[in-house]
Amino acid sequence: MSVTFRLNGQTTRFHDDPMTPLIDVLRREKFLTGAKPVCREGFCGACTVQVDGEAQMACLKPMGLLDGREVTTIEGLGNGREPLHPLQVAFAAADVVQCGMCFPGMVMALSAFVRDHPEADRTAIKTAMVGNICRCTGYERIIDAVVDHLKDGAAPKAELADV
Ligand code: FES
Ligand code: FES
Repeated sequence: MSVTFRLNGQTTRFHDDPMTPLIDVLRREKFLTGAKPVCREGFCGACTVQVDGEAQMACLKPMGLLDGREVTTIEGLGNGREPLHPLQVAFAAADVVQCGMCFPGMVMALSAFVRDHPEADRTAIKTAMVGNICRCTGYERIIDAVVDHLKDGAAPKAELADV
């Protein structure tokens, strides 16, 4: 099967088994290794990307469903002018990352959430994180950083050079 889709703003094609999971195509064919295949069963969220702007688990997304869709990975989340999304800058400025394994997925899920819920409170942020497991259990600091990010009206003032 042939699938044509957009990947981080570029048109790209896939010719193979339509049941191939997106996570394998990203990592093995496109060499985009930000999304992590940790559980491969939809439980951990480490593989989260955005499809048409919505957070989706790449381990559960067959390529056959992606024809004509827009896929964004952590590598493509910056706006082309800035390499990092403001939420990534907020996380770095708050020094919340520990091992980092969960972070690409966490950023992809939460960046979609804050875009759609700029007024979100702490409870709503916690609910939005249920699909993303952090084995280092840094949840409170992550929530603090998201709250700060929303309080700042999006972009924190941290200098990219400092993070
Ligand atoms: S690897 Fe996809 S949800 Fe865990
Ligand atoms: S920072 Fe280690 S799993 Fe989240």
